[in-house]
Amino acid sequence: MSTTTLPLAPMPRTAARSRQLVAASERTTLDPFREIDWSVPIDDSAFHLPPELLPLYGTSAWDAMDEAGRLAYSRHETAALCGAGIWFENVLMQVVLRHLADIPVTDPAHRYLLVEVADECRHSMMFGEYIRRAGTPAYRPTLSPHFLSDEAPGARAVSYLLILAVEELLDFMNRATMRDERVHPTSRAIARLHVLEEARHVSFAKTYLAELLPTLSDEDRTVVADAAPVLVEVVADLSVDPAVYEHLGIEGGLEMAQANPHHRSTIVAGLAKLTTFLTEIGVIDDAHRAAWGALAA
Ligand SMILES: [Fe+2]
Ligand SMILES: [Fe+2]
Repeated sequence: MSTTTLPLAPMPRTAARSRQLVAASERTTLDPFREIDWSVPIDDSAFHLPPELLPLYGTSAWDAMDEAGRLAYSRHETAALCGAGIWFENVLMQVVLRHLADIPVTDPAHRYLLVEVADECRHSMMFGEYIRRAGTPAYRPTLSPHFLSDEAPGARAVSYLLILAVEELLDFMNRATMRDERVHPTSRAIARLHVLEEARHVSFAKTYLAELLPTLSDEDRTVVADAAPVLVEVVADLSVDPAVYEHLGIEGGLEMAQANPHHRSTIVAGLAKLTTFLTEIGVIDDAHRAAWGALAA
């Protein structure tokens, strides 16, 4: 029978940030089933994402669609993004729950991380409600959500890095969505709620990573730096769901979306805050810059 490792000592900056974030969560925590008017039909009266954020925007498949086709296509891509959001939040909650099992309840991060899990539970219910009301298939990534190893050196740093990548990319998409008057009010309300609560998660992940990395051995830090661009590429890949094109009968849609330079530039822009931060904390250094390609040019 294996024994659990001793609880990790609280990290001072992460502890101070956790106290601030618990206070911020006490001031503002939103219930999507009160905040969002779900009686408004999720129909094709408007785009569900800004059209420029859609993976096929600017391709010949996009040019071939009429206005009604583009609106319906945006509803399916939004449902796929919600499905990817639920998948990511599931992965993330598993990381956070394992982290919680390792730290003592007296560490201020303990209470904050439980708040974060509670936030993600509400977000996943909200994304699920969108999909259930949007009349689309229940899109979700086919990649196993259990792909992160807990045993590898630097595993927790790698996991939080993945969390941060997803949160920064979604933040970019959500901010553009909530501000765009062409977008359906339900999509805008979902995006606004998510931006507000995810800002706390981003803040925790950045503080924790910046404090954790210098405590790792050089060898483990190299493992993290090697894994980071690979994981971020997984995140970028999951922004395109082949099932959308199959369901809508868009011939060659997946290949077009994957090769679309406009979509690639959306991903690069969406990950710009992440790559700036990773450069600051030394995860992207001269030895690793080439592996990041255009993402950290
Ligand atoms: Fe979330
Ligand atoms: Fe989050």
